[in-house]
Amino acid sequence: QVSRRIDRPIVLVGLMGVGKSTVGRKLATLLNCDFVDADEEIEVAAQRSIPEIFADFGEAYFRDGERRVIARLLDAHSGVIATGGGAFVNDETRALILERGIGVWIDCDVDTLVERTSRKDNRPLLKQGDPKQILTRLLEERRPYYAQAQIRVMSEDGPHINTAIKILEAID
Ligand code: S3P
Repeated sequence: QVSRRIDRPIVLVGLMGVGKSTVGRKLATLLNCDFVDADEEIEVAAQRSIPEIFADFGEAYFRDGERRVIARLLDAHSGVIATGGGAFVNDETRALILERGIGVWIDCDVDTLVERTSRKDNRPLLKQGDPKQILTRLLEERRPYYAQAQIRVMSEDGPHINTAIKILEAID
C-alpha cells in the first residue's frame, strides 16, 4: 500500500476484457481508496442487468444512463472508477471524465481480449457476430477516443495486479 492522496478520481477506460474492474479493485487497494464500478451502479439504478437494459430499452437509453451515473460518481467519489468500454466514446461522458478525473486507458491486444471476454456471457455487443471481428472493429473505431485519456498503459499478461502497479507508477 502507498500513502498518497489522489485529489481527482482515477477513471479506467478501454475495451471490454482489458480488466478495468479487476485492475481497478487492485489499484484501489494499493492506494487505500474506494473503488466503484460504473456498470454495476447502472445495474443498481435500473434494477436490471446490462443485457436486460440493452434488450428492454436499447443502447441509446443505456448510454444516457451511463452518462448520468458517471457524472454522479465523478462528483461523489474520489477513488478509482471503472467504466464500461463504451463510456469514454460518448462525447459528453468523455468530457466529464477528462475535466473531473484522470482518464487511464488500459490498452490490450485483440487476441487477449477475445480470450478474456469468452469466459463471461454478459456483453450484448459481442452477441451480434464473431467476437474477434467485433472487438477488432471496436478497437479501431474507439482508439482515437481512448487515446485522449491522460494516461495509457498496456495491460500486462499475468495477474492484473501487475497492470495496477504500472498505473500507479504512471500517475506518480
Ligand atoms: C460496453 C462494455 C460493457 C458494458 C456494455 C457496453 C461497450 O462494459 O458497459 O456491455 O460498449 O464496450 P465492460 O467494458 O466492462 O465489459
